[in-house]
Amino acid sequence: MSQILSTHGYAESHDMESADLVILNTCTIRAKAEQKVMSMLGALRKIKVQRPGMKICVAGCVAQQEGDHLLQRMPHVDLVLGTQNIYDLGTYIDRVAGTDRPVVATTMSKAFRIPAFLPADRKNSEPADELYSFKRFVTIMQGCDNYCSYCVVPYTRGREISRRAQDVVEEVRKLVAQGVREVTLLGQNVNSYGRKLNGTALPCTFPELLHQVAEIRGLQRLRFTTSHPKDLSDELIGCFRDIAILCPQFHLPVQSGSDAVLKRMNRHYTIANYLERVEALFSCRPDLALTTDIIVGFPGETDDDFALTMDLLERVRFHGSFSFKYSDRPGVRSCDFDGKISEEVKSERLAIFQRRQDEISLARNSAYVGSLLEIMIERTSENAFQGRTGTNHIVHVDEKTDLAPGDLLEVEIVHAGQHSLKGKVDSMH
Ligand code: 5AD
Ligand code: SF4
Repeated sequence: MSQILSTHGYAESHDMESADLVILNTCTIRAKAEQKVMSMLGALRKIKVQRPGMKICVAGCVAQQEGDHLLQRMPHVDLVLGTQNIYDLGTYIDRVAGTDRPVVATTMSKAFRIPAFLPADRKNSEPADELYSFKRFVTIMQGCDNYCSYCVVPYTRGREISRRAQDVVEEVRKLVAQGVREVTLLGQNVNSYGRKLNGTALPCTFPELLHQVAEIRGLQRLRFTTSHPKDLSDELIGCFRDIAILCPQFHLPVQSGSDAVLKRMNRHYTIANYLERVEALFSCRPDLALTTDIIVGFPGETDDDFALTMDLLERVRFHGSFSFKYSDRPGVRSCDFDGKISEEVKSERLAIFQRRQDEISLARNSAYVGSLLEIMIERTSENAFQGRTGTNHIVHVDEKTDLAPGDLLEVEIVHAGQHSLKGKVDSMH
């Protein structure tokens, strides 16, 4: 969106209070995400009373889900922009610029194609955050056809569609020419990349795409997310052995440790399948850091089901995880399932899971102490800097550096916390 806007006379701003245009790019995956959007819109209403010329755009999944309703609840919004309409942001922004009449653009079509979309010239699109000067996310596909029974994504983001491989490679090439050194390829389920391609595209699988992107000279780190366990192929696992710049980090959402719950979630794998894939990953890349997503309190989850999730945590010892209380989302199948779990039990299970995960993360992180790890520097200040390892851990260093964000450097890990590491360089030279 910032690339599109840069060709329509806009530049990124840090400051919501003085911006001409504020875009909330929204998520509705869980009830809590949606609540955040609504409270932010409440705060923006007050700012707009002071500065009526300011335009407010709500983009993404909440916009898609709510459409016209959003304007009834939040009449100070100028543009409601759905998930397939984002590429036309420039046209819509020009349309609302001169008027007080709001626009709702949330059409969705089976014939939707992701446009061949190249980054704007750097001079017009200087990112407001220095992080984005050297690392970027690149969308390779949009939508999802999996219909996990709890998930709103297939409804808000539409049918799965992949970008053409040549468009992705061209975009990364251009970003690298502008100084980007790390790229994360993004899709709801990268394993099915290329199965439903834009009309004229040449066939290409995700492992093939990874190889093509990895060959771009000047790119130093490559990551991707997310991968569905049901169709994680041997070819993709093999990429962790064969592609040097592919970082040893893997996010493989499991959701539950109980086969019965997985079945009701419509996930199409068992815990035995999952463990077999995890083993294959570690045998290819022993230094891999594995993370996952967990839902606690799915309808019908018994104490025994939850105990199986805890068992899985003990067996795999994930380096980290994102864990959530189940929440009903509009229109999804699990809304109608029996056996809804009380808020109290959900909170209890979440706390038990997170407490144990924190201990395991700390133990895993402590194993790095004493080793040398390469970090890419992310932020620097007068007497300290921080960077990220290939495994995606943040490392803080309390030393001065002449290096800049995006530079690679080897550091010795001297201390581990649950969520980050501490390192030093001075004694190494
Ligand atoms: N309730 C709770 N968590 C959910 N997720 C998706 N839908 C729901 C829901 N209805 C979680 C899943 C997914 C992550 C992005 O969000 O764990 O992997
Ligand atoms: Fe949602 Fe992911 Fe399942 Fe798709 S694969 S329906 S995005 S949880």
